[in-house]
Amino acid sequence: MEKCYPTVSEEYKKAIDKAKRKLRGLIAEKNCAPIMLRLAWHSAGTYDVTTKTGGPFGTMRHKLEQGHAANNGLEIAVRLLEPIKEQFPIISYADFYQLAGVVAVEITGGPDVPFHPGREDKPEPPVEGRLPDATKGTDHLRDVFVKHMGLTDKDIVALSGGHTLGRCHKERSGFEGPWTANPLIFDNSYFTELLTGEKEGLLQLPSDKALLNDPVFRPLVEKYAADEDAFFADYAEAHMKLSELGAIEVPFLMVPMHP
Ligand code: HEM
Repeated sequence: MEKCYPTVSEEYKKAIDKAKRKLRGLIAEKNCAPIMLRLAWHSAGTYDVTTKTGGPFGTMRHKLEQGHAANNGLEIAVRLLEPIKEQFPIISYADFYQLAGVVAVEITGGPDVPFHPGREDKPEPPVEGRLPDATKGTDHLRDVFVKHMGLTDKDIVALSGGHTLGRCHKERSGFEGPWTANPLIFDNSYFTELLTGEKEGLLQLPSDKALLNDPVFRPLVEKYAADEDAFFADYAEAHMKLSELGAIEVPFLMVPMHP
């Protein structure tokens, strides 16, 4: 399907550029890139391609969605962002949360993920229970990412590399510890660690380890462990797709306004 990005005003584009600078400052100052990436992903990852509900539409601003079990702790990210969001009333929450995710990856040394503005805020949070369960395996990952979100096997593995950042918190998810030795650096170490097995002080979730036992996933894990450039290229594409789920696709018969 041809992509067509909504037209936003010059004023809106300027606000996005300025907000991006403010976000770089905030994320550098607070070292909060991991939770910003998790916020963006949990906002978008509720998308259901069949019913066209959920997705990156700013609904995480509602206490109801912050209260979903999978989102434990994300109210911290929402609260950290609020003072900057208030300076840019023109920008939708939908765009703002996704912009924060893109900046989180950029500022920790990851690839530049293309960002296209124009998402609108929706009033209703999605139903609870659409995000993946870390205790489950590959069938579940495909159910969530491919069947519901409409992404691909390659996207699953590339996006899993987002766990190069951050850590699990016992009081939020029941798990504890980081995946990598440098959880504030975005690199391919999630994959190198995954291949070398669990080590003292580092963690691998059942859903991470499941990637090793699948004939499609495992070669991609090996490729990304061996070739960081390949990981960055596939990650940037997958993250962009995630951030635009349900947002900016139009039937191919419509003429794209902006390539
Ligand atoms: C594949 C299925 C996934 C599962 C089952 C999963 C599960 C989890 C769990 C249990 C946590 C710990 C939360 C906490 O205790 O604070 C976590 C954290 C995190 N996840 Fe995922 N995740 C998945 C995919 C992703 C994706 C696609 C991304 C982004 C591209 C991502 C980015 C993060 C980040 C950055 C953190 C760290 C947050 C922090 O340090 O505060 N995850 N994930």
